[in-house]
Amino acid sequence: MATTRYLLQGPRVAIRHVCRQDYAELSALHEESAEMHRRWLDARAITLEAFESSLARLEQPTHEGFVICLLDTSAIVGGVNVNNIVRGALQSGTLGYTSYASTTGRGYMTEGLGLVIQFAFDQLELHRLEANIQPDNASSLNLVKRLGFKREGYSAAFQFINDEWRDHERWALTAETAQASNHRIGN
Ligand SMILES: CC(C)(COP(=O)(O)OP(=O)(O)OC[C@H]1O[C@@H](n2cnc3c(N)ncnc32)[C@H](O)[C@@H]1OP(=O)(O)O)[C@@H](O)C(=O)NCCC(=O)NCCS
Repeated sequence: MATTRYLLQGPRVAIRHVCRQDYAELSALHEESAEMHRRWLDARAITLEAFESSLARLEQPTHEGFVICLLDTSAIVGGVNVNNIVRGALQSGTLGYTSYASTTGRGYMTEGLGLVIQFAFDQLELHRLEANIQPDNASSLNLVKRLGFKREGYSAAFQFINDEWRDHERWALTAETAQASNHRIGN
C-alpha cells in the first residue's frame, strides 16, 4: 500500500495539499454535509468542472488548499484553504475551512486547522491569518477561539452567501500570538 506523504501530522490527523484524485471523496463528503453547510457556505454540490477550476486557482501563489486526513485510515475529515495571500509588507492570508457531517465535533478540525496554521507561519512564512465568521456560527467561533485568534472587528454585509449579504466578525492570529499561546500550553 502506498504511504501518503503528509506536510505535517499531529496525534490523530495529518495535512496534505488537496489533489485531483480527491474529487470523488470530496464530492461525496460535500453531498452528505449539504444540510450542515447550508447556513454558512455556498453549499452547492461540487461539479467536476468547479473542482477543476478551484484546483487551478490553488496553483496560483495567492491560494493554498489543504485536506485534513485521519492518520489511521487516511480518510478526509476536513478542508482548509488559505486564500487571498498577500506578500510584501503584509504576509497575510484569509482562511476558509469546513468539516463534514460524519466526523464533525470530534476535535479533528481543531487539530488539523492547528497544523495548517503552523504550516502557514513556518513554511509559507505568513505573518497574519484572518477568519471572517458569521456572528451566529458558534462552532466556527469556538474553533478560532480555541486556536488563539483574537476578535478584531465587525464587517457589515461582508460576504454574499445563499442570496444575501451576510455580516461577519473578523478574527485574526499573528505568528507572534500563535507562538506565545503555544508556549503557554507547553508545546
Ligand atoms: C466550523 C466547523 C469547521 C467546526 O468544525 P468542528 O467539527 O466543530 O471542529 P472540531 O472537529 O475541532 O470539533 C470541535 C468540537 O468537538 C468537541 N470535541 C469532541 N471531542 C473532542 C476532542 N477529542 N478534541 C477536541 N474537541 C473535541 C469540542 O468540544 C468542540 O465542540 P464545541 O464547538 O461545542 O466547542 C464546522 O462546524 C463546519 O464545517 N461548519 C460548516 C462550515 C463552516 O461554518 N465553515 C466556517 C465558515 S467561517
